[in-house]
Parts: sequence; structure tokens; C-alpha cells
Amino acid sequence: MQVLIAGANGKIGRHLLNYMADSEHQARALIRDADQAPELLERGAFETVVGDLERDCSRALQGCDAVIFTAGSGPHTGPDKTEAVDRDGAIGLIDAAEAAGVRRFIMVSSMRADQPETGPEHMQHYFHAKQQADNHLRAGTLDYTIVRPGKLTEGPGMGRIEVAERLDHFGEIPREDVARALLETLTAEHTIRHAYDLLSGDDNISRAIAGLSFTGDA
Ligand SMILES: NC(=O)c1ccc[n+]([C@@H]2O[C@H](COP(=O)([O-])OP(=O)(O)OC[C@H]3O[C@@H](n4cnc5c(N)ncnc54)[C@H](OP(=O)(O)O)[C@@H]3O)[C@@H](O)[C@H]2O)c1
Repeated sequence: MQVLIAGANGKIGRHLLNYMADSEHQARALIRDADQAPELLERGAFETVVGDLERDCSRALQGCDAVIFTAGSGPHTGPDKTEAVDRDGAIGLIDAAEAAGVRRFIMVSSMRADQPETGPEHMQHYFHAKQQADNHLRAGTLDYTIVRPGKLTEGPGMGRIEVAERLDHFGEIPREDVARALLETLTAEHTIRHAYDLLSGDDNISRAIAGLSFTGDA
């Protein structure tokens, strides 16, 4: 598959490019700055395209079969950027994918985005923004999967995760393991039009994704 990675220069995005280079898929890295291109091509991007999620990114989708959205405004910007990137940027790319006939869409959301009020108060604006983007995806026609990791860490991937349509406890996961789970999810047809929570755990990543089952209420 030809896959547009939104947030390719980010921490999850960079791990994802490494893993995609060893897969049957080709990663098209969406970047904001052309100077980021050489390093990402070195990491495993098949090609790069310059675009800003706060503007129309339709051109970046031409010829793509799938999108992995792992962009975000980050913790150092205010609520305005959370709305502009995490919510409206995601919604704009979902709409552009539908218009372009790109069927598959993997959304990196967040644990608690489905229940923002259960998170700490200072995070609720972020969870609400993620929830609104996720709900827009659910309301559309794409073959989506919503992946909701817990708190992201820098540590090396352990290759072991815990996944379920909804986990009853919060925790952490290294970004590298999120990237591997995203790649497994890309072709996991049983996850289409479903969402799952993702933490570090005891299960091999491929087997855990293959073993996911859904009731459809998450
Ligand atoms: N932090 C957590 O604990 C946590 C938990 C659950 C889920 N998440 C989600 O995980 C995802 C990725 O996390 P991460 O740690 O890899 O993030 P990251 O390192 O901050 O990367 C975010 C990427 O998004 C890009 N971006 C920001 N605004 C953009 C725009 N307007 N147009 C195009 N690209 C834009 C950035 O581009 P530049 O490189 O140009 O800045 C960057 O490459 C996010 O969706 C985040 O909400 C985070």
C-alpha cells in the first residue's frame, strides 16, 4: 500500500518510517518543512510531500491507498493549536481522504478520548479535541481504525502490548511499540470501523492485534 503518514517527522512517525521501510508498504511522509526530507528519506520514507494540516492537504493524498494520522500540536502549544491540528487538521484530512477515494484511515487517538471526563482536568480539552476527530471518522464512510494509546514514553520498544476494545486501567507505552502496532493494524481487516486501547503488556504485537475482538461500542 501507498500510505500517507501525517506527522511523519514526529516521534511515532519516525519509528513508523523505520518499520515501513522493511515492509511491503511505501510511506509518503507529510512534512511541514522541505528541510526535513533528506533525513526522513534516509529513515525509510519512500517519498515526502510538503503540506500543513491547517491548510488543504488534498494534493498529498493523490495515489495513496491509506492514511496513518499520527500528527499532533504537542504539549507546548495552547488550546487553539490543539483545535487547529488535533481536531480540525484531522477532520480536514478525513474529508480529503473521502473525496480522494483513499479508503483506509488509521487514527492515532488517545486513551480517554472516548471518555474525556475521566481524565485529569488539564487534559480534558485535548481529549475532547481527539474525541471530536474520532467521532467525525466514525460518522464517515472510510475503513477506519482508531488506535488509542496510553501515555507515550521514549523508551525502546519491548515488542509486547496489551490491547482491547476498551481497557479498564490506564498506563504507558513506548512510541516504538505504538508504531509497530500501527503497521500491524494497517492490514488487519477485522479492526476496520473499530477502535482499541493500547498499552505495554505481555502479548506479542502481531498476535495481540490479530486476536482483537470487538462488540462495537467503543
Ligand atoms: N503524548 C502522549 O502521551 C500521547 C498519548 C496518546 C496519544 N498521543 C498522540 O500521539 C500522536 C503522536 O505523538 P508523537 O509523540 O509522535 O508526537 P510529536 O513527536 O509531537 O509529532 C507530532 C507531529 O505532528 C506534526 N504536525 C504538527 N502540526 C502539524 C501541521 N499543522 N501540519 C502537519 N504536521 C503537523 C509535527 O510536525 P513538525 O515535526 O514539523 O513539528 C510532528 O511531526 C499525536 O496524535 C498525539 O496526540 C500522544
